[in-house]
Amino acid sequence: TVVVLWLLLVLSVFAEIKIGVLLPLTGGISAFGDWTKKGIELAYKQKNTVLGQKIVLVYADTRSEKTEAANAMARLADKEKVVAVIGEIASSNSMAAAEIAEARKVPQVAVTSTNPLVTQGKKFVSRVCFIDPLQGTALAEFAAKNLKAKKVAIFVDIEQDYSVGLTNYFVERFEKKYKGQVLKVQYKSGDQEFSAQIGQATAFGADVIMFTGYYNEIALAAQQARSMGYKGYFIAGDGADAPELIKIGGKAVEGLYFTTHYVPEAATTKLAKDFVEAFKKEFGTLPAMNAALGYDAYMLVVNAIERAKSADPVKINEAIRATKGFQGVSGNITIDANGNAIKDVIIVKVKDGKFAFETRITPENLQ
Ligand code: PHE
Repeated sequence: TVVVLWLLLVLSVFAEIKIGVLLPLTGGISAFGDWTKKGIELAYKQKNTVLGQKIVLVYADTRSEKTEAANAMARLADKEKVVAVIGEIASSNSMAAAEIAEARKVPQVAVTSTNPLVTQGKKFVSRVCFIDPLQGTALAEFAAKNLKAKKVAIFVDIEQDYSVGLTNYFVERFEKKYKGQVLKVQYKSGDQEFSAQIGQATAFGADVIMFTGYYNEIALAAQQARSMGYKGYFIAGDGADAPELIKIGGKAVEGLYFTTHYVPEAATTKLAKDFVEAFKKEFGTLPAMNAALGYDAYMLVVNAIERAKSADPVKINEAIRATKGFQGVSGNITIDANGNAIKDVIIVKVKDGKFAFETRITPENLQ
C-alpha cells in the first residue's frame, strides 16, 4: 500500500488538466486575439488549479483564417488532448473549428463569435456572447430612433459569415419596421481601397454608413469616406471593437457608434471593477472588450469543470450547457438550449479618441 500511495502522490503531482485556447494571434484580426489572450492570462494568474490539479493552457494560432482554425482545433483535440477549447473570435473561424469540436466531442466555448450558425445544431459548441439577430436589431433600432436614419449604405465583407449575417438582421428590422432604405456594397477582408463603394454610398444619398466587418477595413474605409467629403453618421457592429480602430482610423472614426458586449466604463459590480483594476495593474492599460470576454470564457470553463467534478470532456460540456447566472466581468451568463449566452447589447461612441459608453439595450426591449 505504501508503494501504491506513493505512486498516487507522484501521479497527482504530475496530473494536469489541459485547456486549449484557439485565437487569431497573427493575421488580419490579430488585435482581437491579443486582447483575448491578455484577458485569459489574467484569469489564469488568478485561478490555475481545478479539481486539485494544475491547469495547463495550450495556445493555438489560427492566423485569422478558417482552414488553420480547423487544423489547430484538430491538433488541440488529437495531439494535446485538451478537455475543452476556448475560441475563436471571428464567426467564420469558430464555425470551421466547430465541425472538429463536434466530431471529437470536445467542448468549444467561442468568445465573441456572434453568428447564429456557430452553435446551431451543435451539441459541443457554446459561447459567452449574444448573437447577431439581437445585435442587428439593436443597430436598426438605434439608427432609426436615435439617428433618425432613412437611407443606410452597408459595407459588407463578403468573406465573413458574421458580416453577411449581421447585415441581413439589420435590414430585416430597418426595412420592415421603419420602412428605411438600404444599399449594400461589398468588399473582402484585407481590402484597402474603398473609393468605389464610397462613391456608390454617396450617390445613394446615405445619411448613415454602416460597417458590418472588422476594425482594419472599417478604419480605412471611414478615413477614405471622410476625405471624399462624406458628412453623415458611421455605425458598426462589434467587429469595430478594438482600440486599434482608433489607432488606425484616428479622427475619421470620431463619432462612430457601435454595438458591443462590454466597455470598462459600464462596469458596475465589484467583480467587474476588480477586473478593471487588476487588468490595469497587469498590463498598464484599460481592458478592451475582448479581454473581458476572454476572461469570462476561461473562468466559465474552469467553473464548469468544478461543477462537472470530472475532467471528462463530455461531462464538462454538459456542465457548460447547464450554466445559469454565472457571474462574469461582462455581466451574468446563462447558456440557453442552443449554447448561446443571453446578454445585453452595449452601444459605444468614439469620443475624444476613446470608447465612451452610450447606452445599454436589454433583450426584452428588442422584441
Ligand atoms: N462578432 C464577430 C464575429 O462573430 C467577431 C468579433 C469579436 C468582432 C470581437 C469584434 C470583436 O465574427
